[in-house]
Amino acid sequence: MQPFSEERTREAMSELNDIARALVAPGKGILAADESDSTIKKRFDSINIESTEDNRRAYRDLLFTTPGAEDYISGVILFDETIRQSALDGTPFPKLLESKGIVPGIKVDTGAKPLAGAEGETVTEGLDGLRERLEEYHGLGARFAKWRAVITIGKQIPSEYAIWVNAHALARYAALSQEAGLVPIVEPEVLMDGDHTIERSFEATSRTLQAVLAVLVAQRVRLEAMLLKPNMVLSGYACREQATHEEVADWTLRALRRHVPAAVPGIAFLSGGQSDDDADANLDTLNRAGAQPWQLSFSYGRALQAAALKTWSGDPAHVLSAQRAFAERAAATGAARRGALAEHRHPVPAA
Ligand code: 13P
Repeated sequence: MQPFSEERTREAMSELNDIARALVAPGKGILAADESDSTIKKRFDSINIESTEDNRRAYRDLLFTTPGAEDYISGVILFDETIRQSALDGTPFPKLLESKGIVPGIKVDTGAKPLAGAEGETVTEGLDGLRERLEEYHGLGARFAKWRAVITIGKQIPSEYAIWVNAHALARYAALSQEAGLVPIVEPEVLMDGDHTIERSFEATSRTLQAVLAVLVAQRVRLEAMLLKPNMVLSGYACREQATHEEVADWTLRALRRHVPAAVPGIAFLSGGQSDDDADANLDTLNRAGAQPWQLSFSYGRALQAAALKTWSGDPAHVLSAQRAFAERAAATGAARRGALAEHRHPVPAA
């Protein structure tokens, strides 16, 4: 592979910047439908259906062919199996999405594995052979990529060791993605699991963002040509005192403003196991907190899909009602993205 010339680099990065900005366009955000085999099995277990290739294809077909979803969904993150599958009429999924003006993306990490010498902590794998895989995914139509690092809060953790090895891998992935013509979505997720307070989540999130941004710059990743996908700063699931939406927005913005340069075009939050209503209410509050240097958008998996998955429950007779549930949730999340959730829920009747 030829190294890029300076001019070619500038041109390529400007194309990536256009894609990044399209992904966080006003009122729009990303659907994460990139559940790995083990994760989709868990989701299907919850509705008592078997995780066969056919069922997985049918479920993704339902989501991607939902009429009107493209009004709120700018991009979809696919899994390796899904990017090779087709809709019922034979159109490959990436082509189908493109035809609706939705940018196809691809999960490229191979999962979080136990980190040697660090009990309870993980490092995300997938760097071996990544350059070749990225080239293949680009050929299959992907224009952005995702890599998720997982940071856990617990007794004495996260360690600096776990934070920095994960930051290093995220930056290696991001640099390779930009080289391959894909916008990297850089996802350092500080988990909600545990009984920690929101202050501890703020501290762990701040340390993580500081490391991730430092290593991205050190590894020559162009900040204009990437998106950040962080967690919101939240109380742990089991924390007795749950923070309000205003507190979540306040702590989240404080961490982001301290550590994320304005050159990054957008922040696409993950939902991370919040209920769909909480994820939307928090995104709405964040977008009502005044002007920020970056777009504040979403890249939700569970929050966008929960209602559709349950309504579908594997029954072909429920496809249309499941699509309605997905479209309704996408519209609500799109409204939250504009800070207009209240108006969406209670539209003023025409005079
Ligand atoms: P959740 O919104 O369900 O956290 O999923 C987003 C995602 O892509 C996790 O990697």
